[in-house]
Amino acid sequence: MKKILMLTSETVPYAKTGGLADVVTALAIELKRLGHDVRVLMPRYYHIDRSSLKRHDSALGIWLGSGEEWTAVYEGHLPGTEVPVYFLDHERFFGRDGIYGARPDDGFEDNAARYSLLARGAFQLCRMLHWFPDIIHAHDWPAAPACYLLKKEEGHREFSKTRSVLTIHNLGYQGIFALNDAVYLQPELDVLNLSTIEYSGAFNFLKAGIMTADKITTVSPTYAEEIKRPEYGFGMDGLLRYRERDLRGIINGIDYSIWNPETDEYISPNNFSADNIRNKKLVKKDLQKKAGLKAAANVPLVGIVTRLVDQKGIKELCAPGSGALFSICSDFNIQFVILGSGDSWCEKELNSLSSKLPNLSVKIGYDNHFAHLIEAGSDFFLMPSRYEPCGLNQLYSLSYGTLPIVRRTGGLADTVENYDMETGGGTGFLFDDLRPDVLYDVLKWVVETWEQRMPDILAMRKRAMEKRFAWESSAQEYLEVYSQALKH
Ligand code: ADP
Ligand code: GLC
Repeated sequence: MKKILMLTSETVPYAKTGGLADVVTALAIELKRLGHDVRVLMPRYYHIDRSSLKRHDSALGIWLGSGEEWTAVYEGHLPGTEVPVYFLDHERFFGRDGIYGARPDDGFEDNAARYSLLARGAFQLCRMLHWFPDIIHAHDWPAAPACYLLKKEEGHREFSKTRSVLTIHNLGYQGIFALNDAVYLQPELDVLNLSTIEYSGAFNFLKAGIMTADKITTVSPTYAEEIKRPEYGFGMDGLLRYRERDLRGIINGIDYSIWNPETDEYISPNNFSADNIRNKKLVKKDLQKKAGLKAAANVPLVGIVTRLVDQKGIKELCAPGSGALFSICSDFNIQFVILGSGDSWCEKELNSLSSKLPNLSVKIGYDNHFAHLIEAGSDFFLMPSRYEPCGLNQLYSLSYGTLPIVRRTGGLADTVENYDMETGGGTGFLFDDLRPDVLYDVLKWVVETWEQRMPDILAMRKRAMEKRFAWESSAQEYLEVYSQALKH
């Protein structure tokens, strides 16, 4: 039995901006099921209701920069489990709307202090609980400094047997701040330590983690290879090549109690399965109605649910004047339903396109219910990602027999098999180059397949629904990584 502290900025159902939140929760639950003592620590953001949480009697004193900050500790559980979730409650740092910023495309100015508090707080919390983990599992840049603190400071104290694992869910977000902000992590930095946290003249949270974690993982084998190359490395490729013996890609699973067409309450009473798929048509009809599209069973319906950021290929899809979406919707007998939020230019452009195109429905915002409906009711799901560490939406799509159309990168390449026109094999449609003309061509291919080779589509659907990306095997791989870290 291992003691594992998951350190994170997001977990469902408490705070979520993307797949990180789903993954931390599902992994923690699976590790618990396998018999381990897993606990989660995250900030108590303002929207997290304290009334259902237990408040610990003593407050934590956490050194930050030149002074001590006092935080209350609240405790809850991951739903339906005994996995404790501890929350650091600090009015000045977390008592405001938003997780990383007031808007999705914006970051708070004091994020270096906010998340240094989380990393330092992790060690103080363990002291308070008299619980010293074998593994601190830090997720993404907000938690990465904990690996640094363990190596440079805390490892000499009660944490001498603790090891750290850093999981990179997205190398594109590194937590880059002014060098002066490094005082929050360590008030007096000598030259050696400075070189561990500094990149390009700035304080880089993720670099600090990459340099000091005992083991590093990322969320698919292909992404683990890609990030060692300059095109995908966001400046960290050299360091990742340097650490490659400690770097491993482990594919995410999905939670089939939530994303399952047989039991999904959001599509009830039209639930369906691989062997009884007839009701998928009814969900499609319902989706078309809710999206304000014509209820046409024979028109292929393509869904998108995404953060509207450059990573997701939004420029090639809908940049004013050059994106492929306008021509695709104008030229083909096709429908699109898009749900997303993010960069303002893109939100505006999508709204403007949908006012011109009757076969394009756009909803700006975050809507879990509608996301389920899109996954279940669409015929295809488009993810033209520039890069994709794993991607969960294509896994959800496969589960609902909604065939993914994806760029061959990262986790998309590892989880979707390309349609083979000769054998009829595959579970989706893949393409390589991210260009508007390539997007146009791949959608043309999809529409032609729909119109001329429906038996192939139906066979692919069934194959897709029978694929399983369960957490159990991925959790076993994490356990192997923990064991290797403990031998370090
Ligand atoms: P990323 O983490 O890069 O955003 P993933 O595919 O791993 O990409 O995970 C995205 C998660 O966020 C999925 O669970 C998806 O359903 C959800 N999601 C993204 N945007 C929205 C939205 N606008 N409304 C509802 N859910 C969303
Ligand atoms: C990140 C990645 C996404 C991945 C998710 C969970 O947000 O962009 O590809 O699925 O983390 O690991």
